[in-house]
Amino acid sequence: MLQNGAPWLDTQGRPIQAHGGALLRHDDVTYWYGENKDGDTYQGFLHRVDVIGVSCYASTDLLAWRPEGVVLPARPDDPTHDLHPSNVAERPKVLRNPHTGKFVMWLHVDHADYTLARVGVAVADTPRGPFRYQGSFRPAHMDSRDFTVFQDDDGQAYLYFSSDWNATLRVVPLDDDYTGVRSAPTDVFTRAHREAPAVFRHGDRYFMLTSGCTGWDPNPAEYAVAPHPLGPWSVIGNPCQGPGADLTFGAQPTFALPLDDGSVLVMLDRWRKEDLRDSRYVWLRGHVHGEQLTLRWQDAWTGTHAQAAHVVTPSPSSRRSE
Ligand code: GAL
Repeated sequence: MLQNGAPWLDTQGRPIQAHGGALLRHDDVTYWYGENKDGDTYQGFLHRVDVIGVSCYASTDLLAWRPEGVVLPARPDDPTHDLHPSNVAERPKVLRNPHTGKFVMWLHVDHADYTLARVGVAVADTPRGPFRYQGSFRPAHMDSRDFTVFQDDDGQAYLYFSSDWNATLRVVPLDDDYTGVRSAPTDVFTRAHREAPAVFRHGDRYFMLTSGCTGWDPNPAEYAVAPHPLGPWSVIGNPCQGPGADLTFGAQPTFALPLDDGSVLVMLDRWRKEDLRDSRYVWLRGHVHGEQLTLRWQDAWTGTHAQAAHVVTPSPSSRRSE
């Protein structure tokens, strides 16, 4: 049992360092990737920790997390590198590309003042890495800060990114090898100031959970539903219910994983901006009925029935050509 909001320890008894994280299920193992923030917090443009890298943990029950190390480390040797400690590397997300068999990591890379606003891409042959950094870019030359990537059952993947200094959240399909984008992005929420997107599919509907834009401080979550990953997205409202619902239980979404029992594991971060390494995790079981998503506080993530849903691996014939 993992107590929501308390320190979570890995199988070696050390605090888990995987903030702004995401899960990837592969061969009956679930991998948790996230920001290793195990350094001192200092006040820069915002409260920050120097880049250490992306941690990976592995589990078969979503409760006991075995450390797999830093699978994409910072590059202190190269001041010009995106992953130099003085920069920002946030919200890593990993997809397995069914066409190439590679594991592709996306992350938000930025300068300390958040003016670079790019996505970075790294590729590995196994989920445990090591991930080889490929470089960074702005999708269709647009600034990109908080983001997520989502892989649909047909193998098509999408990038959702907060753009125009977080005013407008957009979506764009990824290319076949998942290392770039294709076509022009389309608006999901225009001038609505949403970030921290988490996207999942439930039946034939797509759900997107977002936060507002208040930095490390919590604010009300909101979710939207669409018939297709590209939209149109209809805002439904705040999925949180009960005490603390108005501030997302003091946390911010980062990822959502459908589970075999039809519920959804919603991963959130409870940031501690004065000491970011001690930021906490809140994992809640979301329930979907039609277009309604409900999130209630639970004291602990118990993992009961917490099997991740089967991920469909598309056959080559189901590939979309656009
Ligand atoms: C949040 C964002 C985090 C981090 C933080 C910096 O809005 O979701 O990932 O960038 O701002 O203050």
